[in-house]
Amino acid sequence: MAAEPGLGVVVGGGGLGLALVRAMRADPAYGRVILIARRVVEAPGAEVLIADVLDEAALDRAAETVAAAGPPTRVIVASGVLHGRGVQPEKAMRALSADALTEVLRVNAVGPALVARRLLPLMPRDRASAFAALSARVGSISDNRLGGWHGYRASKAALNMLIRTLAIEHRRTHPLGVCVALHPGTVDTPLSAPFQRGVAAERLFSPDKAASALMGVLDALPPEATGGFYAWDGAEIPW
Ligand SMILES: NC(=O)c1ccc[n+]([C@@H]2O[C@H](COP(=O)([O-])OP(=O)(O)OC[C@H]3O[C@@H](n4cnc5c(N)ncnc54)[C@H](OP(=O)(O)O)[C@@H]3O)[C@@H](O)[C@H]2O)c1
Repeated sequence: MAAEPGLGVVVGGGGLGLALVRAMRADPAYGRVILIARRVVEAPGAEVLIADVLDEAALDRAAETVAAAGPPTRVIVASGVLHGRGVQPEKAMRALSADALTEVLRVNAVGPALVARRLLPLMPRDRASAFAALSARVGSISDNRLGGWHGYRASKAALNMLIRTLAIEHRRTHPLGVCVALHPGTVDTPLSAPFQRGVAAERLFSPDKAASALMGVLDALPPEATGGFYAWDGAEIPW
């Protein structure tokens, strides 16, 4: 017998977040979809809750609404920053600044952890579920051969460690759940727009293509995969 349709939650209303909402809306495994974004966005078919990932009171309110809607069977955190609001990926160490480093770490690592703290405990204990945060391959320490982008890389490495640590705790109470970091590939969104030069056309994914690939990866991950770091094609990425 097919499982009851689940509740999907996406955090972050940017290019990938909205594409993930569309992918969940198109998937009969999700009867209801909630988008948590920091401003009002058009997300047809989803309920939109307003919360900045760094606003703990707003996250508490959003989590209460999610809890009332039923246990979320899939949560994907798709908020993040690479440039804007005083942040620019650093080309060299002379560009490092306390404010920019702190901002990128707060948005990309602290924010998803604050979301996880509230939503992981709401996930069902008696059926499969997945919590994922969108990380980036450049957050892999062992894969870093080019340097640069110090703050963004460090923020995603920190996010990866938080996800791994959360996964260990989560599996004690939710043995059927997975909690992972995902790399979506290079995706045509405002975040990557200034940095797409030199990316071969076939390596630049549309948000919908990336979202459906990520949903497929999560569908296929067994509980033992929890705590890992996976790319859009399902390949495990070394830390
Ligand atoms: N695109 C790529 O090639 C790529 C590659 C690797 C990893 N990723 C990761 O994928 C995720 C999604 O990126 P994207 O490509 O969809 O970028 P995007 O279109 O710029 O979306 C990012 C979203 O994050 C939201 N956000 C930023 N700070 C926030 C905060 N404090 N609270 C709540 N929301 C916040 C932004 O809100 P506003 O709209 O209000 O600014 C925006 O909607 C990011 O974590 C990114 O690092 C993307």
